[in-house]
Amino acid sequence: MTGTVFGRLAFAAASAAFLAAAVAAQQTTAPPPTAAPASSAEPSAKNLKVLPMGIPRQNLIGVMQMMSSSLGVKCTFCHVGQSRETMDFASDAMKEKLVARAMLDMVRRINEQDFKVTEWSKSKVTCYTCHRGAAHPLTAAPKPGETPPPVEHRHEG
Ligand code: HEC
Ligand code: HEC
Repeated sequence: MTGTVFGRLAFAAASAAFLAAAVAAQQTTAPPPTAAPASSAEPSAKNLKVLPMGIPRQNLIGVMQMMSSSLGVKCTFCHVGQSRETMDFASDAMKEKLVARAMLDMVRRINEQDFKVTEWSKSKVTCYTCHRGAAHPLTAAPKPGETPPPVEHRHEG
């Protein structure tokens, strides 16, 4: 279907710009973790469905760090394996990775449709907006007179 194809292309372009913002924000706090001396021509990934396949390695890792710190988790929360060396990042075996992928798509859609943000560096909603350092965002608002819980309520591991 032609509509689907064009939809996918626009999606990838929007994601790329959105990511640039996420990466810029992240770069001030953390360097890229892996020492992969990838040339920019080298494909950065094998199994991306929301992020653009051509995303540079450094930007990809920047997004991963942004998602990790937004949820207060490590890479192993979403990816199979025990250590960086043995991880299979392309695998979709973890249900958390599938949820994260859907959330990534949701965040892109919210910014585009609900906030009319076309310049993605001006994104209003990110993973951190809801998660605030926790894997499970709070849902219930404080009762009248009740003190809101602290913002950081980190997931263990
Ligand atoms: C909250 C879940 C989550 C966390 C935490 C996470 N990732 Fe990911 N990762 C994903 C998702 C989802 C994708 C696929 C995105 C897509 O489909 O566009 C992905 C894709 C990747 C890929 C591309 C694999 C391929 O070949 O397709 C790499 C590499 C990667 N992540 C590395 C990391 C590293 C390193 C960390 C820790 C710093 C990390 N991830 C933390 C969810 C996560
Ligand atoms: C609009 C608010 C909102 C935003 C933005 C958001 N999330 Fe979520 N997320 C939630 C809620 C609410 C849940 C819990 C859903 C449930 O309990 O079924 C959740 C759950 C998750 C889970 C499952 C946690 C678990 O332990 O199973 C993952 C993974 C996740 N989000 C990743 C992400 C990532 C990555 C982003 C950014 C790309 C993101 N979320 C952005 C609201 C949000």
